[in-house]
Amino acid sequence: MSRQTIGAPLPEKSQSTNQASRAPEPLHGHSDFVVVSNRLPVDRVPVEESDDGWRRSPGGLVTALAPVMATRDGAWVGWHGAPDETLEPFHHDHMDLIPVPLSTDEVELYYEGFSNSTLWPLYHDVIAPPEFHRTWWDAYRKVNKRFAEAAANSAARNATVWVQDYQLQMVPRYLRQIRPDLRIGFFNHIPFPPPEIFAQLPWRQPIIDGLLGADLIGFQRPNDTANFLRSARRFLGASVKAQQVHVKEADGGISHIARAEPFPISIDAAQIQALAARPDIIARSKQIREDLGNPKTILLGVDRLDYTKGITHRLKAYGELLKDQVIKVEDAALIQVASPSRERVESYRLLREEVEGMVGRLNGQFDSIQNTAVRYLHHSYPVEEMVALYLASDVMLVTSLRDGMNLVAKEYVAARSDNSGALVLSEFTGAADQLKQALLVNPHDIDGLKAIMVRAINLPKAESSRRMRSMRKQVLSHDVQRWSEDFLSTLQDEAVRDDR
Ligand code: G6P
Repeated sequence: MSRQTIGAPLPEKSQSTNQASRAPEPLHGHSDFVVVSNRLPVDRVPVEESDDGWRRSPGGLVTALAPVMATRDGAWVGWHGAPDETLEPFHHDHMDLIPVPLSTDEVELYYEGFSNSTLWPLYHDVIAPPEFHRTWWDAYRKVNKRFAEAAANSAARNATVWVQDYQLQMVPRYLRQIRPDLRIGFFNHIPFPPPEIFAQLPWRQPIIDGLLGADLIGFQRPNDTANFLRSARRFLGASVKAQQVHVKEADGGISHIARAEPFPISIDAAQIQALAARPDIIARSKQIREDLGNPKTILLGVDRLDYTKGITHRLKAYGELLKDQVIKVEDAALIQVASPSRERVESYRLLREEVEGMVGRLNGQFDSIQNTAVRYLHHSYPVEEMVALYLASDVMLVTSLRDGMNLVAKEYVAARSDNSGALVLSEFTGAADQLKQALLVNPHDIDGLKAIMVRAINLPKAESSRRMRSMRKQVLSHDVQRWSEDFLSTLQDEAVRDDR
């Protein structure tokens, strides 16, 4: 991949700016659109399975952005998932992929440490206690600088750079320092906590300042946006008007306006719908029901094995319903898919032990030779199998204690093309803002959760189809394509332009 150096001719599409005539020409590349995320959107596969040893990862983000990449000379900057390995940039799927190396120590301090043992619990209502270590913070800054430099080197003059998620909150600031010509967007996929909780972070000022390096900062919910703006005001003394922050550079650099707005993310609804109509997947869903002994009701939970997901609350409620004999093991089965996640982080190890202990006890107590109470699957599955599970299940259980969005809820809705099925949805998910016709629940209220599970199992057909129809309308008309278009067009909007 070619890299242009100082003084090299600009790519044809670039225009000059006032800034460029004042400052020395920074190093730049040729990509008009650069996405930066902790992970690259590809997984390594055996060479027999693909020409170049890589396959596009599942997930809405890459599906939405790949077409933009293809038409706009796009590049994606991210870690390729293996420590202590430096890879050259490569081309895959009409995208330039720019791998950022991480050492074993950096994986421990920046990824497992600051990202997933400080920020993740802090931003999810301190469900687990966050840990604060200065060595983690140092690694976070160092790695964020590396991501920013890689993005700066790939972006053409006046390019758009879109930074994703909590692992990279310092990137907008570092990037603006190196490349003030860029249009920078940031999207936070997880919740942003209220200032009363965010206040605990010893590095609350630089984190807010890092985010304010962006022109547009997107959040899942209006509440997250308000929390961020309140923190900007409180901890940085920023001047906030409407949803705009006037950012003055401490070093006398050019000031800019950073705008914060909600952009609730969604799914590739067309893909899920198409899979749900495929005869082989419909046949697979019937097979799943049959393999479970054709119970009257199948309930389903699908989560990363994460303490934010409320899996133990769900199991507790289900166990009590079995104990009370409100549910009988021959009539109902709960499938719990818990995909492995962040397995080297202590709180995740402890959760796995707790969940597996609970499942073992429930099954020991309630299984019969023929029937199992909880079918627990500690695996990740391809999207085809997930859709078959959605089709096979009468009740979907999403009981997160806190969740930025929860795309599983939206996928279930998109898959139910006959308008059947009931969605039990935690109030503490971003999705609850949009899926108002779900059976909403506070998962901390175990009696309330039990009652809503029973209601979902017995929901009259007319009511479930009225609810599902309305939720499907929402999800099908607000897909991830629309989400990325909304964000990127707002980012380009003249109103966001500052006085550069
Ligand atoms: C959440 C985060 C993502 C993250 C994903 C998987 O959805 O918002 O940024 O990639 O979890 O977690 P992992 O740590 O495996 O990347």
